[in-house]
Amino acid sequence: MTASVIHGGWVFVPLSSFVPNRLCTRYSAVSRLDCWRFGHRKGYPLTTSCLSERAATIAASDHNYGSKQVISVTPRVYDYLLTNVREPQILRELREETATMRGSQMQVSPDQAQLLAMLVQILGAKRCIEVGVYTGYSSLAVALVLPDSGVLVACERDKNSLEVAKRYYDRAGVSHKVDARHGLAVDTLNSMIENGESCSYDFAFVDAEKRMYREYFELLLKLVRAGGVIVIDNVLWHGKVADPLVDDKQTESIRSFNRALMEDERVSISMVPVGDGMTICHKR
Ligand SMILES: C[S@@+](CC[C@H](N)C(=O)[O-])C[C@H]1O[C@@H](n2cnc3c(N)ncnc32)[C@H](O)[C@@H]1O
Repeated sequence: MTASVIHGGWVFVPLSSFVPNRLCTRYSAVSRLDCWRFGHRKGYPLTTSCLSERAATIAASDHNYGSKQVISVTPRVYDYLLTNVREPQILRELREETATMRGSQMQVSPDQAQLLAMLVQILGAKRCIEVGVYTGYSSLAVALVLPDSGVLVACERDKNSLEVAKRYYDRAGVSHKVDARHGLAVDTLNSMIENGESCSYDFAFVDAEKRMYREYFELLLKLVRAGGVIVIDNVLWHGKVADPLVDDKQTESIRSFNRALMEDERVSISMVPVGDGMTICHKR
């Protein structure tokens, strides 16, 4: 998912993730003043950083961090990044079909999907779980790289979007690797535990109800083996987690989940600013 980007006196708000047939960002510009007002009303993050396409870096203000300059992803930088993503044709077709559907902004971006697939490959994962499938973009990216004997348990409560996903699993020739479970993810995960499947999974990806993150995480921690990986999406929540003016329930629950993860000795963690922010958790 793309985030709003500040450029000079303008804030670029993503309209939809991608232009058909091409990986590139589409932004609608609103004045920063409007954004300031809008930001306060809607609780969107405000930043004092001023970025330009020529100087797409932001310096950490705290000298304790050594004033390290890190990249800020402007539309131009993100377009460049996307030209360096290898997106399989079938994923591109799914992304383009999903772009015409309600909720299309929910699917992970091609760079996120590529990272998930690479983690699965690095792990040599055979047994995976996804919580929140929608039309299947991230799950298809994972299924494509699983070995033929691999399995991905794909949990989704919305029948219609799951039907789109299943159609693409078929088209991609990976249906035999995907165990699509229609229903509430918590019920599916609990039934897997009751079925004696604890510690038998290598990889899990969570991209569903934000207020349920803690519960999903606890269940997945039981299902994933030591050395396995759990990836959580939307941990930066469009930047709202960093804005003290925002205190809606979803933002608060992601903040509290992030805080709890920081203290959680059962996993090593790495929060990565890709898409809307993903935390990679390695079970110890
Ligand atoms: C952000 S979308 C997932 C996007 C998907 N990972 C992709 O890349 O296309 C979240 C999905 O989670 C599903 N969802 C939300 N709550 C759920 C629940 N309790 N159980 C199962 N699915 C749920 C929603 O129906 C929605 O399709």
